[in-house]
Amino acid sequence: MSVSEKDRSFTLLEANQSIAGIVEDRLSQFPVRDVPFQLLDLDDIVAKHMNWGRLLPRVKPFYAVKCNDDGAILETLAMLGTGFDCASKWEIEKVLDMGVEPERIIFAHPIKSSEALLFAKKKGVSSLTFDNELELEKIALFYPEAHLVLRIRYDSDNALILLGKKFGCDAQREGPQLIRKAKQLKLNIVGVSFHVGCGSLDADCFYSAIGAAKVLFEYAKTLGYKPSLLDIGGGFPGDSDKPIDEFALAINRALDHFFPNLDGVNVIAEPGRYYVGSAVRLLSAIHGKKIIRSPTDDSEVLQVMYYINDGVFGTLFDWVSLRAIKDLARVVPVITDQKAQKPRLKTTFWGPTCDSTDIICENEEFPEHDIGEYVLFENLGAYGMSFATNFNGFPNPTVEIYARKDTWDSLLLIKEVCWKKKTLDFLQKYF
Ligand SMILES: Cc1ncc(COP(=O)(O)O)c(C=O)c1O
Repeated sequence: MSVSEKDRSFTLLEANQSIAGIVEDRLSQFPVRDVPFQLLDLDDIVAKHMNWGRLLPRVKPFYAVKCNDDGAILETLAMLGTGFDCASKWEIEKVLDMGVEPERIIFAHPIKSSEALLFAKKKGVSSLTFDNELELEKIALFYPEAHLVLRIRYDSDNALILLGKKFGCDAQREGPQLIRKAKQLKLNIVGVSFHVGCGSLDADCFYSAIGAAKVLFEYAKTLGYKPSLLDIGGGFPGDSDKPIDEFALAINRALDHFFPNLDGVNVIAEPGRYYVGSAVRLLSAIHGKKIIRSPTDDSEVLQVMYYINDGVFGTLFDWVSLRAIKDLARVVPVITDQKAQKPRLKTTFWGPTCDSTDIICENEEFPEHDIGEYVLFENLGAYGMSFATNFNGFPNPTVEIYARKDTWDSLLLIKEVCWKKKTLDFLQKYF
């Protein structure tokens, strides 16, 4: 694996070591580092994959690369045999460069440049999503042999970020029109996809969306198509305390009802946040502190403000922006055992830049910390690194990658001994 990149390290944990122990060790290190750092736990990703297989055995995951394209994550998932949802030719290139076959990639951006289409064609990535007529005309010109997946709009009533305003056609009105248009252009429709929205809190939405896809499967058949791919998108939660069991129940119920015995239909999903959310912890150092006192009574502390070295313009953007959209996700550092007994004060955490919107959380009851200590954030694997900027010159966190030695050995074994066979099975099953 490519761990030689600057600012990254890869450590295999022995049986007597644990990520929790490493975190504890890092929290007490002094002096703190000038640059924040992430601990990436590959075992967490493996555990998520096992859980997915147990709960959704009929749904093949195609990991959404945009969520976190760290090479160690991609390589772990490649070894586990997942597919990949790529949004651009650069993501496609990155995945292909790891030796993943083009058949394990879906180009799941409904709008693609002509150059991107030609690139996909050249590389043999044939599954593409689309959601409008002009895109179909473009595909007819640049990649008429592609296997097309119609993206319908099906927004959850309760997602943190809805995608339907930007992507997806109206299933009832535009869906049949687009299938007819594809027929006219002699294009090959192979299935239907949707994305209920990121950070969905509404499992039942998947049930209705699968029902809407089924109607279009039947319509496509009346025009002579043989649709065989149902892509249920992403939108699953990924925090360690947010299970997907309810989502799995709704999806399995829908598959049983609308696609009994699957009837030659392959079902895939594009989970991003689910796979990586809980795999990353962030340690950010307190570089400054202000104590805000009452103007009338100097002994009364109104609030403590900390200035830490990661923030909204760094890897904390995702959760902070979600919180701004809906007051659902709070980004507060973990209260560690070491500090749990200390009195709690009203606290604000600021990111390092000169921008006053760089605020991570405010008015939180938090035990007092000192300059030169770390604060720990959990569940930061999704989108944080993808969105991070270097605003004001502040660098993005370095990454420490950890895997249990026996897990890593098993992954290597899968790759060397089973991967080729696994891939063949995969291709036969899904394409
Ligand atoms: C087409 C598509 N698939 C999958 C994903 C991943 O979504 P999530 O991280 O919510 O699972 C996204 C996120 O924007 C997306 O746009």
